[in-house]
Amino acid sequence: MASIGVIGLGYWGPNLLRNIVANRRSGKIVICDKDPGRLSKVSERFPACETTLEAEDVFKDPTIDAVIIATSVSSHYPLAMKAMQAGKHVFVEKPFAEDTEKAEEMVKYAEDNGLVTMVGHTFLFSPPVLKIKEILDNKELGEVRFITSTRVNLGLHQKDVSVIWDLAPHDFSMLFYWLDEEPDFVEAFGHDYVLNGIPDVAFINLGFPSGATANVQVAWLAPSKLRKTVIVGSRKMLIYDDTEPYEKIKIFDKGVDILEPKTFGEYQLSYRTGDIISPQIDSFEPLHSEMEEFLRCVETGATPRTSGRSGMGVVKALETADKSLCAKLER
Ligand SMILES: NC(=O)c1ccc[n+]([C@@H]2O[C@H](COP(=O)([O-])OP(=O)(O)OC[C@H]3O[C@@H](n4cnc5c(N)ncnc54)[C@H](O)[C@@H]3O)[C@@H](O)[C@H]2O)c1
Repeated sequence: MASIGVIGLGYWGPNLLRNIVANRRSGKIVICDKDPGRLSKVSERFPACETTLEAEDVFKDPTIDAVIIATSVSSHYPLAMKAMQAGKHVFVEKPFAEDTEKAEEMVKYAEDNGLVTMVGHTFLFSPPVLKIKEILDNKELGEVRFITSTRVNLGLHQKDVSVIWDLAPHDFSMLFYWLDEEPDFVEAFGHDYVLNGIPDVAFINLGFPSGATANVQVAWLAPSKLRKTVIVGSRKMLIYDDTEPYEKIKIFDKGVDILEPKTFGEYQLSYRTGDIISPQIDSFEPLHSEMEEFLRCVETGATPRTSGRSGMGVVKALETADKSLCAKLER
């Protein structure tokens, strides 16, 4: 049974903690936040957990096997490196690191020292995302041609990172998981409408070695919350709307086929419109499944579905998109 340290008890950390506490696989739990107010508030909810204001205390504790880091992005690298240097396995919230160089160093250190690294790409534990993976792997849509993904709402403007670093990790992690590949082309266009120098809307284009293409729209400026993905395959098409209470996924038997030309140069297109099917989707809490995966990997040494290496791939694409966007914003 693994003993766990949880560092960072702001907005997100308590959600991870709740699922670690509920999971019978964990032993002792130590919680840490440098903000005494936050620490005592969370400690009241989870009185069985030991507490500390110093992350160093968690690293020094020889009984702790693994550390969960849910702090701001710039502290992921220093905290994760210190935890690993103390021999602990690490779970790091998304994005895994603030740049590719740091992500590479974290992955290399873990791999050289036999430690588990996992990144908080929560969507890869969500039932509709797993269902889509199954549909794509079964080739029900044929070959994937292109994917569009919209993730916009009137969101909280971050002061240190662009909307790309905040929201696109979700879309990128899903795209790379579904397609089983990372992009060889990434380019972004956008604007900083509210805070100067902090882009709050971005349109990102991606190209993949298989020939699939994707467009991801992310924004903190929108009248309502949209979470919509369209996947167009060579045989069928799919719409995934995460805001729908039921029927989150719809598969459309629609497509266009080129008919054999009757005479030279006379191509004809045949448009196909068939059934629309909404598949049955399991129901479980993604965070529960995510924490279960981390504890299982800590116990067995297995590689998690959302390994640090996959987190590094997402960071690489985020960095490329952000650089291309910021280059266009210079004026
Ligand atoms: N997977 C998801 O869907 C999801 C959703 C929201 C946030 N997140 C991620 O979770 C992370 C945290 O986001 P948040 O919104 O909870 O931030 P937050 O600012 O609300 O909380 C961060 C907490 O970490 C504490 N902290 C920072 N440095 C520390 C240190 N060195 N030692 C001890 N405590 C420290 C802060 O005091 C604060 O309480 C980010 O990486 C964010 O991207 C993930």
